[in-house]
Parts: sequence; C-alpha cells; structure tokens
Amino acid sequence: MEDRSFGLAGRYNALDGNLGQVLRRRLLARQLDLHLPAVPAGILDVGGGAGQQSIPLAREGHEVTILDTSREMLEEARHRLNAADEEVRRRVRLVRGAGEEMPGTFTATFDAALCHGVVMYLEDPRPMIRGLAAAVRPGGIVSVLAKNAAALAVRPALKGRYREALALLDTDRAAGGLGAVTRGDTVEGLSGSFAGAGLEIERWYGVRVFTDHLGDRPPGDELPDVLELEWEAGRRDPYRSVARLIHIVGRKPAAHREGGDPA
Ligand SMILES: C[S@@+](CC[C@H](N)C(=O)[O-])C[C@H]1O[C@@H](n2cnc3c(N)ncnc32)[C@H](O)[C@@H]1O
Repeated sequence: MEDRSFGLAGRYNALDGNLGQVLRRRLLARQLDLHLPAVPAGILDVGGGAGQQSIPLAREGHEVTILDTSREMLEEARHRLNAADEEVRRRVRLVRGAGEEMPGTFTATFDAALCHGVVMYLEDPRPMIRGLAAAVRPGGIVSVLAKNAAALAVRPALKGRYREALALLDTDRAAGGLGAVTRGDTVEGLSGSFAGAGLEIERWYGVRVFTDHLGDRPPGDELPDVLELEWEAGRRDPYRSVARLIHIVGRKPAAHREGGDPA
C-alpha cells in the first residue's frame, strides 16, 4: 500500500497547537455537530491521520473508524489513543486503506463519512467522493474539507507577498502550510461531484476567513472572540466565499419504500 502522506505526516502533526489548526478543528467540530446524528453514531474518517478530528468525536461517544493510507499516521493515532481512556480507545478502530478503494465491508455501513484535508492531494476528487457516498447508509452524511480554489491569493496577499498573490489569481494550485503544492476545489465543482455520487448538499461553510494568514501563531487570549467571528463569517456570504477552506456537507437520500407505508 502506497503511503500517500507525501512525507508530510510528522510536519503536519507538529502543527496541532497552532491557531490555524485549532480554528480548523473547532470550527469543523461545531459545523459537524449541526449535521451528525445523536451519539453514538458510526463515523468513518477517511484520511483521518492521527485522529485529530475523530478522537474528540470518540470522546463524545461516537464509534469511529479511521481509514488512512499512511502507516506513520496510524501509528501516531495509536500513540494518541494509548493516552486516552479505555472506553475512548474501544470506540476507535484504525484501518489502513485508501478511500477511493473503500473496503467492501464498509458499504452502506456508516452514519457519517468524513474526509478532511485529503482531496487537495488528489488530482480528481470524484472517486473519493463516490467511495464516501458508498460507505454511508441511506440518510447518512458525507463531510469534505477542501482547499478553496477561488481564494488562493488571499493568504499571500495578506502576508504582503503581492507578486505571489497575483500569480495565484489564475490557478487552482498553491503551496500549502507544509510547503507542498496542492490543488484547490470550488463549491460548484464539489457540489457537482456530490450530485454525481447521489448526495444532496445540506450546507457549505468557509473555514478561516479573517485569520488564515495568522495560522502559524499560537492561539492567544483572543481565541474565543476569533472563534466566534470565524464561526459567524464562515456561515454567511460574502465572507465564506473567500475562506481558505471549503467545508461541504451532503446527505445520501433516505431509502423510501415503494407504495408508501402499509396502512
Ligand atoms: C493533511 S492530513 C489530514 C488529517 C486529518 N483528516 C485532519 O483533518 O487533520 C491527510 C491524510 O490523508 C491521508 N491520505 C491521503 N490520501 C489518502 C487516500 N487516498 N485515502 C485515505 N487516506 C489518504 C494521509 O496519509 C494523511 O494522513
């Protein structure tokens, strides 16, 4: 199995306490909370890495499966779980594999499938989104976090790197925080991919509108205010359109019985 973490695993995990990652995790958690079913839901986290998003969900009582191609990431997830309570450990399963080649045993199994920070590494997000859709039961949700192709210039521009920003106005690729050049998606493009996989869009959010360019700092005393501002801006136009990341949530239509319910 190819690793597909591009040698970035250690560097990615080291960012965990930075403002950018803290905001991303907390905003996603709050957004997901509006869509996830009640505890305990069965949640698949594809490209879940070291469990940054889904170990907290297991702490809330959800049953989590992390599917990831990287042995190193899964080892880090195991390491983090070893420091967690026994009941949290029992709620998390670690599986090595690729989301596009979803294991057959996962078909229509989960209440929710998450895929956060992965599609920017894929040339084409559609096979992944089809895999996520296949993994959830009818009525289940699919949550994808992607880089926003429509706003790639914002970060370098706010950092004062104007030439770099200018060059990014006409491309869908840009260097991310880890230095690797990754691909951006648009809300329209992802919506089309969701529809192609039989998913109905519930809502989309912007993640990190005003403070993306400050992401390397540690969170300061103003974190509660920053979180509230980013939460509100990420839910409304025009602000969400220029966020660094797009969070899109879709739902697989519930199965309905032909002829309606028996009398
Ligand atoms: C940037 S990390 C994101 C980790 C976590 N989802 C988060 O939001 O913090 C990307 C993860 O996706 C994994 N990955 C990349 N391509 C994958 C694929 N096709 N299927 C499953 N995992 C993949 C990598 O190994 C890595 O752990």
